[in-house]
Amino acid sequence: MAKPILAPSMLAADHSRLAEDVLGVQAAGASWLHIDIMDGHFVPNLTFGPQTVADLRPKTSLFFDVHLMLDNPQDYVEAFVKAGADQVSIHVEPDYDIAGTLKKIKSLGARAGIVLNPPTPLEDVIPYLEQVDIVLAMTVQPGFGGQSFQEDVLKKTARLAELRKQRGLEFRIEVDGGVNQENAALCRQSGVDTLVAGTAFFKAQDRIAFLRAIETEEQS
Ligand code: DX5
Ligand code: ZN
Repeated sequence: MAKPILAPSMLAADHSRLAEDVLGVQAAGASWLHIDIMDGHFVPNLTFGPQTVADLRPKTSLFFDVHLMLDNPQDYVEAFVKAGADQVSIHVEPDYDIAGTLKKIKSLGARAGIVLNPPTPLEDVIPYLEQVDIVLAMTVQPGFGGQSFQEDVLKKTARLAELRKQRGLEFRIEVDGGVNQENAALCRQSGVDTLVAGTAFFKAQDRIAFLRAIETEEQS
């Protein structure tokens, strides 16, 4: 089982002082930073662009886990890798060359991920499992932070963990949306090794303790 990782989501930071908040994430002991990119089409919200990533890159050694919520991710993966993304994850729902885009991310030297929304069947990502470093199962409908965790998604992560074992693969299994200290243990028991947390991390009274609790969570 991979070591659990908490990826604080920059969406929940103060957008007028991103660099300071990102340094705060690092100071809390995190190794990853989740960066949500929204286009106002695939999801009804707008966030950051490649320039934001490029400007933050020299300020931190955090692993940049970039989550593209775009209708045309194939047109932007290069810009985000060049800006300093360590990993780029793309959704399975829009109509574009998914296999080709994953290949492109890898050929640019970054890790590649595939993402599925809560209503999307697991079968839709199965064709890409051999190609990816991470599968991200959304536990909310993407677009906004602060929504409630959809627990039934954990059936998909548990199934993913089985498939990974059966096929001898090594991709990580990530959840994103409504993750907090209460549901983290359940996530871990359902095969999840990578947990994104926006609101719960930034609102935590003690971020160091929050991070430690999630990253040392024992699987029962
Ligand atoms: C939602 C984003 C999430 C968001 C999670 O569309 O993909 O990464 O930041 O925020 P919380 O943890 O507040 O649900
Ligand atoms: Zn996200």
